[in-house]
Parts: sequence; C-alpha cells; structure tokens
Amino acid sequence: MTKIKKIKIENNIISITQFDDEDYICLTDMAKAKQGDNRAADIIKNWLRTRTTIEFLGTWEKLYNPNFKVVEFDHFKSEAGLHTFVLSPKQWTEKTNAIGIFSKSGRYGGTYAHRDIAFEFGAAVSATFKLFLIKEYQRYKIIESNQYNLEWDVKRLLSKANYHIQTDAVKKHILPEKDYEKEKKWLIYAEEADLLNVILFNCTAKDWREVNPEHTKQRLNIRDFASINELAVLSNLESLNAVMINNKIKKHQRFKELKEVAEYQLNILNEQNSMKALKKLSDDIYINQKKMTKIIIFISGRGSNMEAILKETKNGILNGIAETILVFSDKKDAIGLQTAKTYGIKTASISAKGKNREAFDNEVIDSLENYNFDYIVLAGYMRILSENFVKTYKNKIINIHPADTNLHQGLHAYDWAFENKMKKTKITVHYVNEGVDTGKIIAQKEVDLSGANTLEEVEKRGLVVEHRFYSETLRTVFSQQ
Ligand code: GRF
Repeated sequence: MTKIKKIKIENNIISITQFDDEDYICLTDMAKAKQGDNRAADIIKNWLRTRTTIEFLGTWEKLYNPNFKVVEFDHFKSEAGLHTFVLSPKQWTEKTNAIGIFSKSGRYGGTYAHRDIAFEFGAAVSATFKLFLIKEYQRYKIIESNQYNLEWDVKRLLSKANYHIQTDAVKKHILPEKDYEKEKKWLIYAEEADLLNVILFNCTAKDWREVNPEHTKQRLNIRDFASINELAVLSNLESLNAVMINNKIKKHQRFKELKEVAEYQLNILNEQNSMKALKKLSDDIYINQKKMTKIIIFISGRGSNMEAILKETKNGILNGIAETILVFSDKKDAIGLQTAKTYGIKTASISAKGKNREAFDNEVIDSLENYNFDYIVLAGYMRILSENFVKTYKNKIINIHPADTNLHQGLHAYDWAFENKMKKTKITVHYVNEGVDTGKIIAQKEVDLSGANTLEEVEKRGLVVEHRFYSETLRTVFSQQ
C-alpha cells in the first residue's frame, strides 16, 4: 500500500518506497542496472559480504537503530572478507535486527535500503551511477516538496474559508450602501489591502467595520466572510498587484485592471462551483468529497460490523467520506462475503488452510498490490497478523475489539465480561501492531451491561454499540487525514 515512487537513472527505473517516513531505495533495481535481472541477488550478496560494507552498515545501524544487535554484528564483522563468508540481506536483518535494509515481496518486491545505504551501494554499481542516483533523488525530493506545499496552501485557504461556511455568516454581515466605482475619492488614500477589498467585496475595511460593529468586537473582518472562490482570487490579486506596483503602474489603473481580472476569475470559479465538492461533517469539519478514503474490510465470518460500515458509507455518517473498495476474507465461505455482494461490493478470499502465518500473509500482501487503498479495516477478522503484514501497512490497519484492550485481549471478550459479571464493558477501536489487541487505542465506548443476564444479551448490547461506534471512529480518523 505504501506508494511506490519511481526515478529513472540511465534508462533504468528505480523504485522508492517509504518506511517510518524515510525513503528506501530498491537495491535490486539498482543491481539490475549493472548486470540485468538474473544476477541482481548475487550482486547484492557480494556487496554485503565485504568488510567495508559490513562496517558501514553497522555504523549506520548504531546511529539510527537502538535495537541493533551489536554482538551479532561483531560476529559478522570478524567473518567478513573470508572467502567462505556469504550473507544475504534477510540473514543480516534477521540476525542483527537491522532496519537499514529489508526485503519486500510482491509486485515491487526486492531488497530495499535506506537512502544513505542505497547511495553507498550505488558506488558498487558504478561511480557515475552513484552520482546520477544522488542527483535524481534530490530532484525527486524537490518535486515532492513542491506538491506538498501546494496542497498545504490550498488546505490553509480552505480552512480559512471554513469559518464562513460553518457559521453561515455570509447572510448575516452587512455591506455599506456606497458606490465605490462612481465615487472614487476613497481611492486616493486607500491602502493596498483596501484596494483589493473594494475590488472583491465592494467595501473598504473601515466602512465594513462601521456597519458590522458586533463582528468587529469579535475581531472579525471582512475577509473572514469571504467565500472560498473569493479567497482564491484574492491570493491571485495580491501577487498581481505586487508585480504592478513594481512596474510603477498608478493606483487608478491598477484598480481598473485588477477588477477586470477578479471578475473574470470569479466567473470561471463560480461556474465550476467547487463548493459542491465540500461536504459538511459536523459544525466544524468540512471535507472535500472527491477525496474519499479508500478502505478494504477484512472479515472471517458473519460480518455484522462490515455490514454496518457498508450501510454508513451508503447512506449514513461515512457517506462521501469512505469508500469500501473490497471485502476480503480468509474464509471462502464467510457469510459476510455474500452480504457484501448484495451491497455491490467487490469481494475476494484466500484460504489459509495449511499455510503458515507468514506465507499466508505474504500471499495476501501480494494480492492487495493490485488495489489502491488507504486503510485496512478489520471487522471480525479472526487471524493474528504476521509482523511483516503489520510492518507493510504500518498505522494503516484498524481493528475493533469488544472489550477494553487494557484489560482483555484476544478471543471471547463478551464471555469474559459475562463470566466476570461486569456491569459495563468498553468497546475499543485501535490501530493494529505486532501484538494481539495491543495497538494504540483510537477511541473507546462504554456498554451498559447492568441487568444483562445471558451471554446473548451481553453480546447483543455490545454489538449495537460496536456497529455505530466503529463508523463514528473511522469517520474521525479519516477526516483528520
Ligand atoms: C465483533 O464482536 C468484533 O468486535 C470482533 O469480532 C466480532 C465480529 O462480529 N472483533 P461480526 O463478524 O462483525 O458480526
């Protein structure tokens, strides 16, 4: 799921993936650049077995990895260079707990290394290759950060406009009855900000304050009542005006020209009606509908939580926020798969019979490579996930547990509450880590069990809460993305 980015060096495509917010570059792709597909693994192994490489890797791990096993490392160091010594990336990571290198299966599988290490490996391909790699990587980072800035700017703009949408204040503020076009005296003394205020809002800041004393007391100004489109145009006008001032264009002339630009741009934006894309989640959260969070739901059986989520995405609180692109099961005959189909949702299953945890999970990872999704939502998925699976989708797997995970983990949570005659229990939604129900808690909700005399009643009360609470929590998580 971590998106694979690609850079091109001397006609070779090199994949980059992310782990713990750090870039890892594909050594296998780099090795292929040296000698083609077949020998890539050998090239990496040959590089790994030298003393210089082992020392470099060890130094890197000691700097960045508190769990690095130094004793194991010393052992490898003493062996390095001997003609009998061989070492694969997998052996290195398994024995020393290294994090600088890892192997990944699936479509973009191969050996990946932290960029510091990948640059070092670049030299083993060729000096020119290493230099190109560094240059291309830097170029890629610049492009990436520009995209981020742009997005950030738009978000900032939108969040500012939120105030206006939230409060419906646009209807409540007043504009002075003044014809600024005809009566141009104001222009002589106007500050640059007011020049733009009149163009866009047909009002100076001072005049607005006079007719809106209540808002002024709350430290609001005319721009707090602007629409998203007006704010977008305002930001354009600010930069245009700066250029015109530099070119020594007179105020009257600038007013005329900027007004034309504003009318033109506003017309275009209003026609597109970008506001339509905004959906109100609550009084203070608006989201862009077009960016729905794509989820895959994992089930093993009945799937009542899954169905609740599907209902909420269709017509309820997750509508316009989340989209289920697949329901997956480790059981081909899980009833929930049939239910998902009746909602028109694509389903898939892989049987886990006879496979060990690691192998099965790797198969699942491979099959998910074909889907572009943001989160895996576990809803009664009765399997413990392998370490590799959790690492692959770090912080992107969410689970619901029908008890307080601080007090109870694993199966039979309702039996536990019933047998202990608990007056209340807690439903927990949490991120999944390598342990069983030990991941970071996202939210909890109490279930009143007083007077629940049978296990069926305990479970019934719990499920009612689960069904609503899971979607509510997912909605909060997805809207904070
Ligand atoms: C639910 O109680 C859920 O909390 C737990 O497994 C059960 C699954 O039920 N993880 P369903 O398949 O969603 O009906």
